[in-house]
Amino acid sequence: MQAANTNYPHKIRSESEYNETYQRSVTDPRGFWAEIADHFHWHRKWDSVLDFNFDEPKIEWFKGAKLNITENCIDRWAKSHPDKVALLWEPNDPSESHRKITYAQLLQEVSNWAKVLKSRGIGKGDRVCLYMPMIPELAFAVLACARIGAIHSVIFGGFSPASIADRVKDASAKAIITADSVMRGAKKIALKDIIDSSLEDCTVEAVIVFNRNKDTVEMKEGRDFWYSELVERLDLTAIEPAEVMDSEDPLFILYTSGSTGKPKGVVHTCGGYMVYTNYSFLNVFQYEFDDVYFCTADIGWITGHSYILYGPLSAGATTLMFEGIPNYPSPSRFWEITDKFKVNQLYTAPTAIRSLMSCGLDQFKGTDLSSLKVLGTVGEPINKEAWEWYFKYVGKEQCPIVDTWWQTETGGILISNLAGITKHKSTYATKPLPGIRPALMNDKGHRHPLSQANLSKANTQKLQGNLVVEFPWPGMIRTVWGDHERCKQTYFSAYPGNYFTGDGCFKDTDQDYRITGRVDDVLNVSGHRIGTAEVENAINACENVIESAVIGYPHPIKGEGIYAYIICQGEVTQSAVNDKIKDIIGPIAKCDKVQLVSGLPKTRSGKIMRRILRKIASGEKSWGDASTLLNPEVVDEIWKNRVV
Ligand code: PRX
Repeated sequence: MQAANTNYPHKIRSESEYNETYQRSVTDPRGFWAEIADHFHWHRKWDSVLDFNFDEPKIEWFKGAKLNITENCIDRWAKSHPDKVALLWEPNDPSESHRKITYAQLLQEVSNWAKVLKSRGIGKGDRVCLYMPMIPELAFAVLACARIGAIHSVIFGGFSPASIADRVKDASAKAIITADSVMRGAKKIALKDIIDSSLEDCTVEAVIVFNRNKDTVEMKEGRDFWYSELVERLDLTAIEPAEVMDSEDPLFILYTSGSTGKPKGVVHTCGGYMVYTNYSFLNVFQYEFDDVYFCTADIGWITGHSYILYGPLSAGATTLMFEGIPNYPSPSRFWEITDKFKVNQLYTAPTAIRSLMSCGLDQFKGTDLSSLKVLGTVGEPINKEAWEWYFKYVGKEQCPIVDTWWQTETGGILISNLAGITKHKSTYATKPLPGIRPALMNDKGHRHPLSQANLSKANTQKLQGNLVVEFPWPGMIRTVWGDHERCKQTYFSAYPGNYFTGDGCFKDTDQDYRITGRVDDVLNVSGHRIGTAEVENAINACENVIESAVIGYPHPIKGEGIYAYIICQGEVTQSAVNDKIKDIIGPIAKCDKVQLVSGLPKTRSGKIMRRILRKIASGEKSWGDASTLLNPEVVDEIWKNRVV
């Protein structure tokens, strides 16, 4: 096995090195990535570094190579540093004990879980859905899937039974891994009951239940199994060997919302994803081997996959997992955890920062935070006030902030400063990582002529457009599970030859990128991605609703709030609407404002003029000429009755 190197030879250590590395990565991308990939353990090296065309699309990295990601994330560190802590875990309730899992223990636990999965007939290529609390067993189970070559699909704990059922069916999952329940703050979520309801109209062969809270739950004979009982029957002495995978075999599916239809199953594959999450983790956070790193995300989202698990573990890092929420039992919780474990890198979301900002400065009383070296943000544009508060009160003006722009589909961070190496700038994600070639498209569908140019003081106008990426990188989406055509249509057809991100972007005279948010009908509510079409479908399923339009509007804490305009016949209340949304999607998609209207502004071809509704929802009267609408009179009425 390739020895683990704790000096991280491919970590960039100065701004000039970043510039040189970036140049090299675009002039010789294959040579560049091959050199990085050389630092991993492969059973067989690749025949070709990259084959691709963005038309089909076909994207193949390290074709012909054989590996197992868990050997890179666990075995090689368990061998060289068995007693190093891999996972730190802090429970929801601070009076419960925390846990420390070393690399040697992680190997044993993942092996145990792998054996349990195999004992239920699960193997390479089978899909396994996980609906679990943020406990170490979730990490063990995810990694156990990867170890035996099963494709994991983690479902966020806030989704409803109907949403779970959609995902389980779409992935035709063979098994589900869950727990009895979870406490989030003071609230209990009965995970197993939710799974039972979700399985009413779909079948899986096995539900494996981990007993987190010692609840009594209903167990269906022949389908449901306690993990503890399955594992008891097995001989755990020998470590379960890792299944040897092709570089391009799927590693996981993660569902995410788009502008139309149901959520898509984004597929990531083994080799490229491993190389990219490792490289981006080390460089963006400038992780040093003895650091303690804390990402506050949930493993149900891509941030948890890439930057709680795979990126950090592949670097032999100590990664902290937190079961609870930022303000329980008090808004000091993140700071107490930081002090308790001497956290060096803290990675969180603007929505968490804004919600803590609103709690006053007492939260810092009695906390020290001097271990912090790097702060990170992800998930949505960070506003100036939140950035400054984070910099001043959390980082004590000593820590660079990495504003990391990326997506479920990109697998890892694409645009960000490198902590302490390249400059940070409030509200700017700044520069592309090596290997990433962003470009801005103008409204005619062409690459902006200055897109690749260095903007000088002579052409001071900021360059604005739709953000695309012109060249593949190892961590990118390969397909949409079961629907390759949808992958092509969504990401590769708007600007042929490019990956389209769905985001708008500025570039300034420092050549820094600033992401302005989605340009499609996707909302970003508290960092959660929600499709307007999904919410509208849920609202339309309410009794008495005829039609609806859902819009995002600026919200001081959530970033975007959800505003629904509804045409109905008879009575419809906001709570009825939200109950339905909770049932069909989950509580994360609840509407903040509901307005009943007699009509929706429509073009002559019957399309809803969302632009006008967006203006009204943000309290702006400047929607321009409405006279070409089919029903211009409705606009004034909607404005008059708007919900403020
Ligand atoms: O609009 C961008 C926003 O989040 C979207 C991706 O959401 P999701 O796939 O759920 O992944 C979130 C975590 C990677 C993007 O299209 N976004 C993410 N990070 C940033 C951001 N917007 C601005 N700045 C960021 N740093």
